[in-house]
Amino acid sequence: IDRPPLQLVKGMPILGPFAENWKDVERFQARSDDLLIATYPKSGTTWVSKIVDLILNTGDTEKSQKGAIFERVPFLECSGPSMPSGTEILNKQDFPRVIKTHLPVEVLPQSFLDKKCKVIYVARNAKDVAVSYYHFNRMALGHPDPGTWDEFLNNFMEGNVAFGRWSTHVKGWWKMRQQTDMLYLFYEDMLEDPRREIMKVLNFMNKKLPDEIVEKILKHTSFQAMKENPKTNYTAIPSTIMDQSVSPFMRKGICGDWKNHFTVSQSERLDEYYQKEMSGTDLSFRFLV
Ligand code: A3P
Repeated sequence: IDRPPLQLVKGMPILGPFAENWKDVERFQARSDDLLIATYPKSGTTWVSKIVDLILNTGDTEKSQKGAIFERVPFLECSGPSMPSGTEILNKQDFPRVIKTHLPVEVLPQSFLDKKCKVIYVARNAKDVAVSYYHFNRMALGHPDPGTWDEFLNNFMEGNVAFGRWSTHVKGWWKMRQQTDMLYLFYEDMLEDPRREIMKVLNFMNKKLPDEIVEKILKHTSFQAMKENPKTNYTAIPSTIMDQSVSPFMRKGICGDWKNHFTVSQSERLDEYYQKEMSGTDLSFRFLV
């Protein structure tokens, strides 16, 4: 299989078909009631998307199961034929629309900021993101071949992967939270106490739900439930696009799997990178829960 190379859009490496769709992305008109889910890849996008979708459906799992999660919460910068075009799906979506994006805030269409849309950002520690992204690049055939783990880790630290540098992304959105109505969540917090984090999302969306519904949402969005659920585990995507026999989309869903991948020296290299990149910000990450 020929894996297409990444293309640069405004200095950001992005998948080829997404780059071709860039005009649509730039032209995209947000509505003030849109809810944007923003993440660096592999940080908990699908998880928080399912939580939001269930909240909007008042915990009605049947209604929430009407489409695969990537259709219920379409990807802004996606374009067919490998996955349905995000902008096309969004034109048919009920209101409020929920839109997901992996764009760094610097290249987010201005319309989202002008319309003062609510934003839920999810961030995850760099080591687990690197591991998860490595396995994702192995199985998601629209991405360049990741090569060896060591090669991928170098590219990850240099930002030579789709959507660029992890640190630029998490810091950029962290800064933006002062100017927008944003809930900034951490994957590690969601693992530690999913109920507490679901309550944060509920409050942020100005919703109230009875305890038993929250309980239902909790159960339905556990890793195991989402791994078994064909609407959330991405098995609806053909294996020529995502080869789940190489690595499943719902892979492990834990914090600290990096310990099974990083050598001591790789870990030190990333620690050094982290110290350097994160100096001068009050944003910090937990690498173990
Ligand atoms: P791993 O590869 O470490 O297992 P995204 O949706 O942003 O692409 O992120 C995918 C990552 O989130 C994968 O991480 C996946 O297993 C994990 N994930 C998805 N749903 C989850 C859940 N309900 N609980 C814990 N982790 C989840």
